[in-house]
Amino acid sequence: MVFACALVSPVVMPAGAQGFGDPAAGRVIASAECAQCHRISEREHDPNRTPPDFGAVANMPSFTELSMRVFLQTPHGQMPRLQFTRTELDDIIAYLASLRRR
Ligand code: HEC
Repeated sequence: MVFACALVSPVVMPAGAQGFGDPAAGRVIASAECAQCHRISEREHDPNRTPPDFGAVANMPSFTELSMRVFLQTPHGQMPRLQFTRTELDDIIAYLASLRRR
């Protein structure tokens, strides 16, 4: 029974669980690609800024791994870089997810 649960758990993990991506690598990418517009620190989560702080983004009810994946493959604001590899996307999303208040 324990064995079966271990096999199944990756599939049922909620978005934001640390099952994919590398938050530390994501933070590096965010500092390079996003921080000129967004505040990316976990200490800053003001939802009323434009663009919103990443801490606020991560805590929006609409935040899911899938919504981020879709969002980040579409141009927004004046975001200069629109092409991320799958790994980079995973890392960015893992970093955002790590900013959620638990
Ligand atoms: C040149 C400025 C700029 C850069 C660079 C930028 N953004 Fe944004 N971002 C904005 C603006 C402006 C908005 C709000 C308006 C909009 O959605 O178009 C926004 C909104 C967002 C939102 C949506 C929040 C919501 O309201 O749901 C997310 C998520 C986001 N950005 C992620 C990122 C990530 C991740 C990066 C780096 C890979 C990034 N942004 C880089 C300007 C930027």
